[in-house]
Amino acid sequence: MSSKEKEVTETSEAEIAVHWGEEQLIHPSTQFIAQANVTDPAVYERFSLDNFPNCFKEYADLLSWYEYWHTTLDTSDAPCWKWFVGGKINASYNCIDRHLAKNKNKTAIHFVPEPENEKVEHITFQELYVRVNEFAAILRDFCGLKAGDRVTLHLPMVAELPISMLACARLGIIHSQVFGGFSGKACADRIVDSGSSVLITMDSYYRSGQLLDHKEKADTAVADAAKEDQKVDKVLIWQRYPGKYSAQTPLVAGRDFVINDLLKKHYGARVDPVKMPAEAPLFLMYTSGTTGKPKGCQHSTGGYLAYVTGTSKYVQDIHPEDVYWCMADIGWITGHSYIVYGPLALGASTVVYEGVPNYPDPGRPWRIAQDLGVNIFHTAPTAIRALRKTGPDEPQKYNYHFKHMTTVGEPIEPEVWKWYYHSVGKGEAAIVDTWWQTENGGFLCSTVPAIKPMKPGSAGPGMPGIHPIVFDEEGNVVPPGTGKAGNICIQNPWPGSFQTIWRDRERYVREYYEHYCKDPKSKRWQDWPYKAGDAAVVAADGYVRILGRIDDVINVSGHRLGTKEIESAALTVPEVAEAAVVPVKHELKGKEPDLYIALKPGLTGSDDLAKRIQDAVVKEIGSIARPRKVWIVSDMPKTRSGKIMRRVLSAISNNTAVGDVMTLANPDIVTEITKMVQGK
Ligand code: PRX
Repeated sequence: MSSKEKEVTETSEAEIAVHWGEEQLIHPSTQFIAQANVTDPAVYERFSLDNFPNCFKEYADLLSWYEYWHTTLDTSDAPCWKWFVGGKINASYNCIDRHLAKNKNKTAIHFVPEPENEKVEHITFQELYVRVNEFAAILRDFCGLKAGDRVTLHLPMVAELPISMLACARLGIIHSQVFGGFSGKACADRIVDSGSSVLITMDSYYRSGQLLDHKEKADTAVADAAKEDQKVDKVLIWQRYPGKYSAQTPLVAGRDFVINDLLKKHYGARVDPVKMPAEAPLFLMYTSGTTGKPKGCQHSTGGYLAYVTGTSKYVQDIHPEDVYWCMADIGWITGHSYIVYGPLALGASTVVYEGVPNYPDPGRPWRIAQDLGVNIFHTAPTAIRALRKTGPDEPQKYNYHFKHMTTVGEPIEPEVWKWYYHSVGKGEAAIVDTWWQTENGGFLCSTVPAIKPMKPGSAGPGMPGIHPIVFDEEGNVVPPGTGKAGNICIQNPWPGSFQTIWRDRERYVREYYEHYCKDPKSKRWQDWPYKAGDAAVVAADGYVRILGRIDDVINVSGHRLGTKEIESAALTVPEVAEAAVVPVKHELKGKEPDLYIALKPGLTGSDDLAKRIQDAVVKEIGSIARPRKVWIVSDMPKTRSGKIMRRVLSAISNNTAVGDVMTLANPDIVTEITKMVQGK
């Protein structure tokens, strides 16, 4: 192991991962199996490595193509894979137009406002068609945007978000939706990196009972982007209440445009879907990595859409008559793939809920499920933990029935899994624990629910067509059933995988492929296993248990935050000399960042300073990154060569053994910090 890798491993989440024993297998009900989309185990054979890559035609054939592809997988620019080359397709057409002939009056999107006294909006496929066309006309005719241009969206969980995405997709414009909870500064960074000259936002939205002014973030975003020479010419603003501007922040003349006003000139407009090459980028989704700068994961049109449609059908078990609710935020990849593109491509009804799950009380999700007749439910362990803690007996009070439920985003503790199964699912729903990442487009490991039994705490085997393998640091295979953890990799490319990091191919190769590639000149996919950056253990039956990140990324409430991003935010406070972030276990969020700070010489800490540092993190990134606690210490524990020992800080924060610290340059500091943090 090189010293660089050793240092990275020392900071890992996987090391402090929860440990639990093997669990019993649980089989889905006969009722579930009787109605499931996929029940034939031969699916695994059809998607075996022998049938790679042509097996993925099965997913691509779920879509409507203008032109069929001539090459299923082009590896000539390895490891930038091109799928379905020669094919022409439009994502907006596939999610909307093709359903009109039979299902135009069916609900495409149920928009559920957070205030319970506001009416749910049921948007039919016909209405979605009309609204997407009219907004696409604004993008094309008023903004002058065309295929290949990038547009940043900074929208909350409202129906206008999928409408904006699908309008972009109609024209081949690459959308880049930034999570609505992120700060104006975080939005600016993504505007700059993507080179967007148009920002689409909203005046306000509800969160925990408050109507938040969201437009003010747009002003910060535009101003901060300008400092980095990225000019935003137009800010398009949706209104939370159409016809009424509900933000305090004034409009900037000549720059800010209220979409509901512009629409008046475009009523009835129709915009032909642009026939896009399969490998044209559909969107960018930024995520955290091992350096401070977020990575723009570039997802393709044909391969991505085929993969999310196929997995929505096979693993989410979506039928067109289902009411499907994924309670993620569309600002994350889960929402893109499994609220918008997958379910809509299959013609299902998808629920978009504006607010927080337990507002005004933890019965809210189950009332929504009851009222809308939701039968497929999808969420993350962090939400399950919160609902279990605050309302363990709520689900049984409501008359809803799920046939299927998903968990995603972080490992789920078996106890929490069992509450999900027995209380939320009422023992009736099949559960899939889906492991994947922003980079992957869709699921990598999961059970196919009618074929493989569930195992609480384990994601399951590789998906059909996905062939995981675990390597140690040197590249030796860690065989299943040995109980040993290693780096989980995928042996083969798949259509949903990102194509590259936007404008940074070198980083793409370095972070995901270099480590285990034996021949960097090779054009064979077999030479380029994909490194996910997670530690995993594979049981003898092939079920994968994910332990957590091996790099310095913290998974907070199921979302990746780069420790370096948080540390750089802390360093914007002038008094701060050094910052170190470590993950600390949190009952509901999974992990939370703890922030250690050393000040410049001669300065002393205060509550006010700690608060300013915390505020700086929220301003730079957003409140999701808010440190649990800012510890101002007199010095950091360091190696003799001056490296901060985050492993030691992590042990202190998590109340675990710090191990041998005598080799540190300053071992005494460990006692001092322990006393400060643990009070002993
Ligand atoms: O560590 C894994 C964890 O979340 C990371 C990916 O985060 P992100 O790109 O934000 O995407 C989240 C939703 C796809 C992974 O590297 N993770 C995701 N799903 C699971 C998981 N850990 C355990 N079990 C899962 N089901």
